[in-house]
Amino acid sequence: MHYQRPKGTADVLPGDSDKWHYVEETARLLFEDYQYHEIRTPLFESFEIFSRSSGDTSDVVTKEMYDFHDKGDRHIALRPEGTAGVVRAYVENKLYGPEYAKPYKAFYIGPMFRYERPQSGRQRQFHQIGVEAFGSDSPALDVEVISMALAFFKQLGVSGLRVAVNTLGDKKSRDDYHQALVDYLKPHFDELSKDSQERLEKNPLRVLDSKEPEDQKFVADAPSILDYLTDDARNHFEQVKQFMDALGIDYVIDPTMVRGLDYYNHTIFEVMVNSKVLGHGYTTICGGGRYSGLVKELGGPDDTGIGFAIGLERLMLLLESEKVAIPEKNKLDVYVVGIGDETNAETLKLVEAIREAGFSANRDYMNRKPKAQFKSANKEAASFVITIGQAELESKTAHFKSMASGEEVSLPLDDLYKDFSKIYDKYTGE
Ligand code: HAM
Repeated sequence: MHYQRPKGTADVLPGDSDKWHYVEETARLLFEDYQYHEIRTPLFESFEIFSRSSGDTSDVVTKEMYDFHDKGDRHIALRPEGTAGVVRAYVENKLYGPEYAKPYKAFYIGPMFRYERPQSGRQRQFHQIGVEAFGSDSPALDVEVISMALAFFKQLGVSGLRVAVNTLGDKKSRDDYHQALVDYLKPHFDELSKDSQERLEKNPLRVLDSKEPEDQKFVADAPSILDYLTDDARNHFEQVKQFMDALGIDYVIDPTMVRGLDYYNHTIFEVMVNSKVLGHGYTTICGGGRYSGLVKELGGPDDTGIGFAIGLERLMLLLESEKVAIPEKNKLDVYVVGIGDETNAETLKLVEAIREAGFSANRDYMNRKPKAQFKSANKEAASFVITIGQAELESKTAHFKSMASGEEVSLPLDDLYKDFSKIYDKYTGE
């Protein structure tokens, strides 16, 4: 039997996972600087959490959800995105209570699941780094969130980003715009794609997100949401733009942008890159926005939220194609070579002691001859090689060699066990 991983999934192998760690750690440190702290929610939730939040007209809910009935006949779904689960946790754990900081800021890193057609940078199990902030409708927070995403990309050395923003306004703006869109699209009903005909009934805004060629010409001339904003909504958006200008953020306004999930209002944004590894034209590597009704929809107070999520697979492909340098991790400090069976216990003790002193160490477990062990030490790029043979065992010493300088000395085993860091510093010239 020849087993393969499921379509649309990937193995992240040792070596590559170092790169993932670096990217994740960069996010953790940066987001903590902004006072966002990590939240971990389940990989699966009640189906309803997603259908009520992401919208039952979104592709994510109608076509892409991995859902099933468990053995207790509960309708469960693997999370297609992080926001809904975080909102559920915010409500369930009463994180809006007076004992918590406001806005309540959280970030998450983990796998998400969507039954999509796999292609470069698009998988069925993929990973997101996301943030959410609850309880403030300040436009300055919108800009902090956008700026934080850009700071993350900057720290990683990703350039050539396109930041697109739009607003979906408040409820009245949306209702008025909804009507305007219906009035505009209805006369062309027969010319629209089948999906869009359906969307027109259920959620006309979604037509703007259509990738079907027959819909494109109508999208191009569609009325703009910006002409239907209430004073409040316009004011909010004006301030967002003003603060973005104040921070020197380079952005474009894209009035036809709608997001793939239904919970947004007011500010929405996407960070895109034009890179061949991700396909033709611009690809979104980060998307987000404000969602005002969602906390209430899931049973909480009338708190607003805002956040974004970055697609990690897309980011990793980008980092690779742009040859962004990722610091090397976990270099081998010491390789201990043992000559003869009788050194087995001593070499095992020594690698353990060196690790306990805070250094990395390795030895042979394949019964290799000394020559092959030295070869392994070279292959693993050890900084020091310590050799123990019968003679060393008897004299309670070890042969110690610095691979950088070539210097070789005999050292008492006791010294190696007692204070390895002193020896390390001495022979690394620190
Ligand atoms: P989203 O736009 O659906 O937003 O996803 C965010 C990012 O996840 C996308 O821009 C993309 O980079 C990545 N992504 C989505 N689907 C896939 C896939 N199948 N394979 C690989 N990468 C993918 C959200 O998920 C919202 N929860 C973002 C948010 C947070 N809004 C407010 N707070």
